[in-house]
Amino acid sequence: MEQRPDAIGKERILYPADPSLHLVGDSAAIEEVRSLIRYAAATSIPVMITGPSGSGKEVVAKALHHCSERVDEKFVGVNCGAIPRDLLESELFGHEKGSFTGAIAQRKGQFEDAHNGTLFLDEIGDMPFDMQVKLLRVLEEKQIERIGSTQSIAIDTRIISATHQNLDQAIAEKRFREDLFYRLSVFPIDIPALKERRDDIAPLIRHFIKKIGGDEIYFTREAMDILENYEWPGNARELRNIVERAVVLFPGIMITASQVSSLFRRRASTAPTYQEHALPSSFPSRGESRPFSYVAGDGSSKGILGSGFDLKKHLMQEERKYLLSALRMAEGVVAEAAYLVSLRRTTFVEKMRRHKIERKMALVEPQSSSTRVE
Ligand SMILES: Nc1ncnc2c1ncn2[C@@H]1O[C@H](COP(=O)(O)OP(=O)(O)OP(=O)(O)O)[C@@H](O)[C@H]1O
Ligand SMILES: [Mg+2]
Repeated sequence: MEQRPDAIGKERILYPADPSLHLVGDSAAIEEVRSLIRYAAATSIPVMITGPSGSGKEVVAKALHHCSERVDEKFVGVNCGAIPRDLLESELFGHEKGSFTGAIAQRKGQFEDAHNGTLFLDEIGDMPFDMQVKLLRVLEEKQIERIGSTQSIAIDTRIISATHQNLDQAIAEKRFREDLFYRLSVFPIDIPALKERRDDIAPLIRHFIKKIGGDEIYFTREAMDILENYEWPGNARELRNIVERAVVLFPGIMITASQVSSLFRRRASTAPTYQEHALPSSFPSRGESRPFSYVAGDGSSKGILGSGFDLKKHLMQEERKYLLSALRMAEGVVAEAAYLVSLRRTTFVEKMRRHKIERKMALVEPQSSSTRVE
């Protein structure tokens, strides 16, 4: 019988999917991570993924699950740092009805839920110390007991844990149990910071553009140089944020070096101190407005009402001023100007047409009548 090439060598048929489908990057470091995933996927040994925030630990965990024999079973993620201590035990192991105040019904825990599948213990470094003992016992005995029950339930769950913390230090400071560390990190996978694998930046940009959808965006060589030489303290997540901003502000446009710099400046102006987990909120939503270069009226309109004042006409004039002002601030980039006044690009273009505003009007010095404080 003819043998399929991919069936030669037993270990190869164990990989239903290739990690490169899930994990983007051309660097040697990412290739190494992919080969570690392939090895680990053929077994059920505990894997610990380390790496700085936003480096792709969750992506690696999911890739590992997808490449393993457990692919058709559940991937269950628990953020050990985000769940209060009192709830974490029940979250992981479940409880019987009436076992504590509030336990109004029986509940299965995540270990049971991930039976035959994969349990991803994210931010394991934040797990409370006394819970660490319980977890260790479960891992050793491969069985759990729901809170309030004496019955043991056998579980077969692949454990992947992840942390951005330095666990050696946590162990030295007696915040993390050394025995649990060895039990969890039988097979360690470390993801370097993005600045250590700059070859991944271009493929990640392409990947994010595709994932985000919308119009294609392009970067000049100089713009790419900036992106490839930046430090990326927030790693791939920060890169994704920048790409998202670029897609919104410069759809279908060849983005220049100064426009790329403006993407970074924009963040700096709204989030002066960089916070890894605060990135999404540091990007102003469409509803938030930015300060304008002039103030349109201060509310003291009493004097003009009644003397032939035409509200419609007045509002049209005001609208025209804002459109022009936004267009100037955005240096003629319509998408950006629209963003500045929280309008859709198409709406902005429509209004430009109605007001007979042309892009080139943004590039000339503002006339005093259109920018004067009224
Ligand atoms: N190699 C990669 N290929 C594709 N997408 C990636 C890659 N690395 C990171 N990403 C994307 O970057 C973002 C951050 O990745 P992820 O959530 O896995 O990071 P993390 O290391 O778990 O971060 P944290 O420590 O903050 O939890 C996600 O949107 C993810 O899809
Ligand atoms: Mg994560």
